[in-house]
Amino acid sequence: MRIAISNDHAATDLKKILAAHIAEKFSAEVTDIGSQGEAVDYPKYAQSAAKAILAGEHDLAILLCGTGAGMCIAANKVSGIRAVVCSEPYTARLSREHNNAQILCIGARVVGTELAKAIVDAFLTAKFEGGRHQTRVDMME
Ligand code: RB5
Repeated sequence: MRIAISNDHAATDLKKILAAHIAEKFSAEVTDIGSQGEAVDYPKYAQSAAKAILAGEHDLAILLCGTGAGMCIAANKVSGIRAVVCSEPYTARLSREHNNAQILCIGARVVGTELAKAIVDAFLTAKFEGGRHQTRVDMME
């Protein structure tokens, strides 16, 4: 599994923690394409990650900012991307199973570290169910 992780300056610490967690727990190839602490504009980072997903460079992406909202809005402006902002694991799981979301956004100023790990685990473990959900995803596209 190839996972991109990106962030703005509000989420550098959480990014490092989650990148290490994902690499260890999922034996995943984690590519850090986020800020290393410098102040950046989240729309550029979100859209670059979204385009990399569509180009097949990564399977899924995790985008972190203060609330998760800015990253999510920006990523969803890229046609073909389904990004969700989650503050609990249930929605993260269903966003994969039903919506085939490719991008998970989390607010570093909203959720704590352990909850963020649980949200990521739910997202990365779940599988798209297809069937009637594929029909609905096709309608969105
Ligand atoms: C940066 O201060 C903040 O606006 C950003 O991290 C994010 O929360 C935007 O949605």
